[in-house]
Amino acid sequence: MRLSSTLTPAVLSLLVPGSLALSVNLQSRATTCNGSPDLCNRSYGNITFVGAHDSYAVGINNLAANQDYNVTQQLTDGIRLLQVQAHNLSSDIQLCHTSCDLLNGGTLDNYLSQVKTWMDGNPNDVVTMLIVNSDNLDPSLFDQVYKSAGVDTLSYNPPAASMPATGWPTLGTLIDAGTRLVTFLSTTANFAEVPYLIDEFSNVFETPFDVTTTFDCSVNRTSGDPTTQMFLINHFLDQVILGFAAPFVEEANATNAVSGSNSLGEQVQLCVSDYNRSPNFMLVDFYEYGNGSVFQVAASANGVSYNPTTPIATPIPQGSQTSSASGSAGTVSTTSTSIGFALSVIIGAMSIS
Ligand SMILES: *[C@@H]1O[C@H](CO)[C@@H](O)[C@H](O)[C@H]1NC(C)=O
Ligand SMILES: *[C@@H]1O[C@H](CO)[C@@H](O)[C@H](O)[C@H]1NC(C)=O
Ligand SMILES: *[C@@H]1O[C@H](CO)[C@@H](O)[C@H](O)[C@H]1NC(C)=O
Ligand SMILES: *[C@@H]1O[C@H](CO)[C@@H](O)[C@H](O)[C@H]1NC(C)=O
Ligand SMILES: *[C@@H]1O[C@H](CO)[C@@H](O)[C@H](O)[C@H]1NC(C)=O
Ligand SMILES: *[C@@H]1O[C@H](CO)[C@@H](O)[C@H](O)[C@H]1NC(C)=O
Ligand SMILES: *[C@@H]1O[C@H](CO)[C@@H](O)[C@H](O)[C@H]1NC(C)=O
Repeated sequence: MRLSSTLTPAVLSLLVPGSLALSVNLQSRATTCNGSPDLCNRSYGNITFVGAHDSYAVGINNLAANQDYNVTQQLTDGIRLLQVQAHNLSSDIQLCHTSCDLLNGGTLDNYLSQVKTWMDGNPNDVVTMLIVNSDNLDPSLFDQVYKSAGVDTLSYNPPAASMPATGWPTLGTLIDAGTRLVTFLSTTANFAEVPYLIDEFSNVFETPFDVTTTFDCSVNRTSGDPTTQMFLINHFLDQVILGFAAPFVEEANATNAVSGSNSLGEQVQLCVSDYNRSPNFMLVDFYEYGNGSVFQVAASANGVSYNPTTPIATPIPQGSQTSSASGSAGTVSTTSTSIGFALSVIIGAMSIS
């Protein structure tokens, strides 16, 4: 039996006197949520999710790539926050990295269609999109693409433009209602116009990004109250190559690790000691480095166990023609292709992380 969104358990117990047992049974149809029974009854705002930084920026031997595997594999392995950068290219919304000349991950429409296919096959999972609106496009343009990809009806409409972490529904509620896609937009969000494109910074604060040294939990960007809103840690390490920041893939095993200096586990501990709560979102590069350590960190933060039924994807080594370059973060191994990319970045005079 499926609960209609207007027929809540409270309403049902009014309609059917003495039906308390019935309404409790109907409280959550889903019995496993994001892989765990314990998460069904937990507020979305009290869960730690692993996110893929520049989820669409997939490739090897490309300094503008942040991931080895495509979004479908990311989701299969346990990524539940998908961060993308949206650009206006020839009046299409295209997923590019800083510039569409550097890395073009295809259209948002194509990307969202892949997300929808995965979500249709995994009806007990809540997925979050974080769209960096690089060209400040109007929400109506994103709405058109969401409709075209068929994910507008999967999207969660919050009751207000901004909510404290404690104001969010449980995963079970989102799953039961079929509104399992939560989308944050970095700029131009307009609650009156498209309520499911949720303003990021009045709901979520972020720690510093493009870190090349030590991660901390300081409040870097917000337009809300950091003491009550959810928060995202930017846990991807960059290295400076020829003066420009690029993902430090050689350090990714250690960066993504459960413990150790500058590891993901260490940053989470630091946040817990700073704020007495874990981060809601942890954005990482090359998530599969560490062999599932990023998911282990999330499981520990959530107080659940991490038992993958099949091993996650394995790191794809960078190309074999390696040469050495000395960057500020030490000696790094890189490829002639990526040096070519670094040069094109310098010509474009931009950072690519
Ligand atoms: C779910 O949470 C509600 C209140 O938040 C609580 O009353 C109920 O016992 C919980 N159910 C389970 C199965 O944990
Ligand atoms: C995504 O990657 C998987 C391998 O990890 C591959 O089987 C699949 O075809 C890819 N999907 C697309 C749309 O390229
Ligand atoms: C997108 O870019 C095209 C040029 O490629 C321009 O004509 C159009 O006005 C832009 N759209 C928006 C909404 O900025
Ligand atoms: C936020 O982080 C960026 C990049 O690390 C830095 O340039 C900026 O100064 C920081 N802003 C604040 C307010 O901390
Ligand atoms: C990362 O760890 C894997 C083992 O899990 C190892 O095969 C690989 O060489 C390591 N990569 C780097 C760049 O250290
Ligand atoms: C969820 O709440 C528990 C109990 O207060 C807390 O330990 C944990 O850090 C919270 N997690 C998040 C992501 O808020
Ligand atoms: C990675 O973890 C899986 C368990 O998820 C384990 O079976 C496998 O041996 C590990 N691989 C490496 C290289 O450590």
